[in-house]
Amino acid sequence: MKSESRLDLPIEYSKIEDTLISAEKILIRAVDDAKSLFHTPIVSSIKNNQITSRVMVLREFDLKDRKMRFHTDFRASKIHHYEEDSSATVIGYDPEIKIQIKLQGNMSIHYDDETTKLAWDNSTSRSKKCYSVKGGSSKEISNPEEYDIKDFKVEEGYKNFAVLVFHFNSLEFLYLKSSGHRRAIHKWNDEYDSKWLVP
Ligand SMILES: Cc1cc2nc3c(=O)[nH]c(=O)nc-3n(C[C@H](O)[C@H](O)[C@H](O)COP(=O)(O)O)c2cc1C
Repeated sequence: MKSESRLDLPIEYSKIEDTLISAEKILIRAVDDAKSLFHTPIVSSIKNNQITSRVMVLREFDLKDRKMRFHTDFRASKIHHYEEDSSATVIGYDPEIKIQIKLQGNMSIHYDDETTKLAWDNSTSRSKKCYSVKGGSSKEISNPEEYDIKDFKVEEGYKNFAVLVFHFNSLEFLYLKSSGHRRAIHKWNDEYDSKWLVP
């Protein structure tokens, strides 16, 4: 029996490898499925020993290369955070499938290189428009209406466009089920290892 017909997920996890297979299915689907709560996970960074978090759109998930891709404004605060400390956590939970996925790793910043060019060329005009906002993300302002994007040339936003590539070395999977929760950690250090955890 399956719990989630669209994704064909198991209703029980007895083999630890199934937790990684499900996580991959969920995260690949989430890239294009705006209704998946994993389409907009929480992405955290560290600034002056404080954790800061924000929602970002997941643009790519690749388990083989253990990476996720996010798009952002090069002027955003998080760019400075990752320049100083590349540590990052990405977490999401979807109550429909009762699964939380948490990943830990490091963020690399891309600006005006092959990665950003490819990502920009594959972005829609609607997505590109955000990068034409004047002043830059997080600047303190007195009147937000002055910052509504009206007259703009879409391609000029490229100079403010950055790609964040998240390289993860652990993936934790938690499945909530009344008969017994299931929690597994997958780690890629020198070698890949996976373990069940008390949930
Ligand atoms: C649904 C949703 C999707 C978002 N997607 C992105 C995104 O893909 N990239 C991004 O930089 N900010 C995105 N944001 C805005 C961020 O959450 C955040 O407010 C902004 O990037 C400033 O964050 P920072 O000051 O920590 O850099 C999104 C917000 C929401 C609510």
